[in-house]
Amino acid sequence: MRKFAITTVAIAGVALMALSGCSSRGTTTSSSGAAAGFKAGSTIGVALPDKTSENWVLAGKLFEEGIAKAGFKADVQYAPATNTVSEQQNQITSMTTKGAKVIVIGAKDGSQLGSQVSAAHSAGASVIAYDRLILNTKDVDYYVAYDNEKVGELQGQALLDGMKARFPDAKTYNIELFSGSSDDANAPVFFKGAMKILQPKIDDGTLKVVSGQTDIKQTATAGWLAQNAQTRMDTLLAANYTGSTVLNGVLSPNDTLARAIITSIHAAGKDKPVQPVITGQDSEAASIPLIMTGVQYSTINKDTTKLVAQTIAMIKDLAAGKTPSTNSTDYNNGVKVVPTYLLPPELVTKDNAAESYKNTPSLEALTK
Ligand code: GAL
Repeated sequence: MRKFAITTVAIAGVALMALSGCSSRGTTTSSSGAAAGFKAGSTIGVALPDKTSENWVLAGKLFEEGIAKAGFKADVQYAPATNTVSEQQNQITSMTTKGAKVIVIGAKDGSQLGSQVSAAHSAGASVIAYDRLILNTKDVDYYVAYDNEKVGELQGQALLDGMKARFPDAKTYNIELFSGSSDDANAPVFFKGAMKILQPKIDDGTLKVVSGQTDIKQTATAGWLAQNAQTRMDTLLAANYTGSTVLNGVLSPNDTLARAIITSIHAAGKDKPVQPVITGQDSEAASIPLIMTGVQYSTINKDTTKLVAQTIAMIKDLAAGKTPSTNSTDYNNGVKVVPTYLLPPELVTKDNAAESYKNTPSLEALTK
């Protein structure tokens, strides 16, 4: 009964994120490059990738609402499921042509937008990379994201902690590793953060990657597609975990892939007698009940409302001719250090889920 109550609260918290917003302006370090300002009613372009997880669907809705409430005209576009890169390039070009004053980009492929952001810049638009960095161009003005490397570190640590708790008698642990789509600039950063924690334990023999697949090229999941993760997990299990070989845990970079990995493990009967520890990210509604019942061990709370609110705060500063606040110089896109506003991600397990999701931010904060 108690379990049910907590689950309901957690799901309600996640669902409410869709309807709410929050301002989170913290430490400030100025950066140069403020635009000359622009008027209320100006167009703000928002180019988002395909809907690879719930957070992207929510972001589009929040940008529509938040930009309108801030007094501007929102032009929100998603890259479709096919031809995503060229379609996103075309969308950015069309936003530029239509005179957008700011173009916010959740890149489908951060390495392929150089000429489009350069044209946007020449036309006088400011470019904000949202959630995923845009690489190898000097024409990206700001980056706003959750601390991606920290996300990976939290996932790596959760995997270790979870296995220790679930397999108290084990001295060593058998694991497998998954990473995100190789066209997403975040994927290697998540993986780097996780390996910072896991590699020393692989080196000292505490962790054994039974398949031997530890290179990001081997662990990648094209398109962040669940089916690709499920197929790879099926193959890994069939080739390496026959008989009594126990699987203790899997590093999964997000919730969509975690659920696919869980399905594969269940089909192979490797969830018995003890459910392996599976990590995740994004606090997706379908994963929260799995976390409350221990089927998925952890996720990461990266409240999309806060990220969108921070982006809108940047847009408002740019409109007023002010330099937006930034708090990190950690992100070099290959050509320059991009002034960045980083928000802190939070690890969620069943122990802190209710607490983590209880502070539903207010709509006023997003829009004032
Ligand atoms: C990443 C994002 C994650 C997850 C993933 C798949 O770039 O930071 O939160 O959504 O894409 O969509």
